[in-house]
Amino acid sequence: MNKVEIKDGVYWVGAIDWNLRDFHGYATPRGTTYNAYIVKDSKTALVDTVKAGFFDELQSRIDAITDPGDIDYVIVNHVEPDHTGSLSRVMEVVPDATVVATRKGAEELPMYYDCDGWEIQTVKTGDTISLGGKTLSFIETPMLHWPDNMVTYIPEDHLLLSNDAFGQHIASSKRYADEDSEILEAAATYYANILMPFSPLITKTLQKIGGMGIEIDMIAPSHGMIWRNSGVGDILDAYRGWSSGKSNDTTIVVYDTMWGSTEKMVSAIAQGIIDAGFEVKVYHLGKSEWSEIIREILEAKIILVGSPTINNGMFPSVGGFLTYLRGLRPKGKVGSAFGSYGWAGGAVKAIAGELEKTGVTVVDPLSVKFVPSTDDLAACAELAEKVVDAAEMQER
Ligand SMILES: Cc1cc2nc3c(=O)[nH]c(=O)nc-3n(C[C@H](O)[C@H](O)[C@H](O)COP(=O)(O)O)c2cc1C
Repeated sequence: MNKVEIKDGVYWVGAIDWNLRDFHGYATPRGTTYNAYIVKDSKTALVDTVKAGFFDELQSRIDAITDPGDIDYVIVNHVEPDHTGSLSRVMEVVPDATVVATRKGAEELPMYYDCDGWEIQTVKTGDTISLGGKTLSFIETPMLHWPDNMVTYIPEDHLLLSNDAFGQHIASSKRYADEDSEILEAAATYYANILMPFSPLITKTLQKIGGMGIEIDMIAPSHGMIWRNSGVGDILDAYRGWSSGKSNDTTIVVYDTMWGSTEKMVSAIAQGIIDAGFEVKVYHLGKSEWSEIIREILEAKIILVGSPTINNGMFPSVGGFLTYLRGLRPKGKVGSAFGSYGWAGGAVKAIAGELEKTGVTVVDPLSVKFVPSTDDLAACAELAEKVVDAAEMQER
């Protein structure tokens, strides 16, 4: 097996999960990787491990570089099982290695694993471990995206081992971001579905790391491809934009329908949006991957949600999607609710309420009785115009 040396003495020893299609509800059509790294010097560190079931792949990659028994430190940047699922197996091989984690990480590890007999060293921002010529320097990143998270920086290599930050779900035989043409889209999907709720904290963390004056010419995350050369600036700029809520003149319309009336409203609204000069993207919630819709919402100014009334409320797919969206806390969006009903209605009011709780500025929700008439379709076009006006006003 060839060694994958990403810096002098630093090796990728991760596992490629070609067949993963669902990562706790997040669609992963391209699979993913669980990235781990060996840092070899007078002493040797393993930074992160891989998901349970992938230990053999990790071990054979380590075997190609060093005797696994030489590992002195196992760095746990994040306790989530996709990174620590093989930790117990690793510790069977190197029972005398020191596990390094934040205080929160050290609290969480025994809740997942039997850590009896493990030496666990806790670290905080600014703490370092010398491996000889190389230094492991730790920066806590709490709530990005669990309380335990930290990143590991190697100043001698200008290398940031960033764990989940800057990751993407891509299984590939290539290792570098500049070798994949869809990399920024994949990074945006990851950001939108995993990190969006923590955007204000991400802005602060980027400022904090910027203020530390550390030089970074490579970012090696725990999923997907490694950023190098100009890719480092590209992904840092993208994170600055996403975390600050930078948006495009785009409208995302999501909906479901039983008998097509709400869908007729969608067509009229979408045309109204185009006529008002915004781009529009339309998603039927029963036929689209929610994680991709969320990626589109990340950079959109407007979100419109449509549902027929069923049993006094909204369609279940719409309810599920709105619950997911609310947890992700998108920032600065304008939106509205629309839909068809038969007698007393209920869906549109409920959607508008959910959007408000999500922090969306809601403009004139629109309900139509059964099949939309010509006047109703004109009202749909008018709604489109109003939301575009509101988004433009908000921008000023
Ligand atoms: C199973 C079912 C339950 C419904 N429940 C309600 C209801 O509680 N209140 C209401 O006003 N309309 C109700 N309707 C009527 C629909 O909202 C109405 O047919 C609407 O036009 C459907 O929109 P669509 O064509 O987009 O599916 C119900 C329809 C069905 C099929």
